[in-house]
Amino acid sequence: MKKRVLSGMRPSGKLHLGHLHGVLSNWKRLQDEYECFFFVADWHALTTNYENPHEIPENINDMVLDWLAVGIDPEKATLFIQSDIKEHAELHLLLSMITPVSWLERNPTYKEQKEQLKEKDLATYGFLGYPVLQAADIIMYKAHKVPVGVDQLPHVELTREITRRFNYLYREVFPVPEALLAHVPKLPGLDGRKMSKSYGNSIFLSDPPEEVRKKVMTMVTDIERPRKSDPGDPEKRCIAFNLHKLYLPQERLQQIVEQCKEARLGCVACKKELAEAIIDNMTPIWQRRAELEKDEDAVGNILRQGAQKARANAVKTMSEVRQALWSRNAESD
Ligand code: TRP
Repeated sequence: MKKRVLSGMRPSGKLHLGHLHGVLSNWKRLQDEYECFFFVADWHALTTNYENPHEIPENINDMVLDWLAVGIDPEKATLFIQSDIKEHAELHLLLSMITPVSWLERNPTYKEQKEQLKEKDLATYGFLGYPVLQAADIIMYKAHKVPVGVDQLPHVELTREITRRFNYLYREVFPVPEALLAHVPKLPGLDGRKMSKSYGNSIFLSDPPEEVRKKVMTMVTDIERPRKSDPGDPEKRCIAFNLHKLYLPQERLQQIVEQCKEARLGCVACKKELAEAIIDNMTPIWQRRAELEKDEDAVGNILRQGAQKARANAVKTMSEVRQALWSRNAESD
């Protein structure tokens, strides 16, 4: 039997190249190897965005369109929305009973985000309990592996502690899940900072070719090379070159390095070449997206079918959970 993988993403709307190379390419690989559950964490989005819940449905649609466009395949993986499976709320509640507040208060993400998002009041019960909900998401499907970025490691660690506590207090219902850290290539945004929607430095998967060209041309190159006649050092100093490395073949990269160091290739020409390589790579993604957009119900139907599969699993898990809680010595089930 294939092992299970579960991962979720908050519905942040349109995804960018950072998501593609960081998360989605990894999900795509995993869907061939594991039984995968990928879901939209819309309740998690509420923990920080409870003032604007009306934005969430459209963000879900945009995000799932991007998943499908890059090749996340509903025939291979189960795709669903968290809030469609009410069992997550029940399990969250039960896990909250056994989770010490001190574990949550020392969670580094909690402390950091409360500091960083000062404009929002995050002194809420729901925000403190964010990792408890995440634990419920994960163990509901008895996932073995959870592909996440380093920023999410504390949450997976908490999930493991909560799971052990549940298994110890009641009955061994859940496998203790493990994080699956993927190698994520460094992908800076247009200005050199991490690519992020909130920095306004992103190339979105749904940007049309003209927009990609325009954006790539604004990318920062080697700041110590103000004129074409100055020699550059792309591997050490050029921000754009991080993208070249993802989109151009190895031999061409070597030529570019030489030509740049010898001041024979200018940054404008070099970025034009990059833009065209990105566009070639994105063309099939855009085509799939356009195809999907033609059918207004496509995303909704896929998520509905995914919810059915997910729900069947969740219902089964919750019946085991209730058994474990209320008849802890029952041997007969
Ligand atoms: N917290 C995750 C993030 O912000 C999203 C998430 C929610 C998640 N539930 C999950 C990820 C369960 C993995 C498993 O990226």
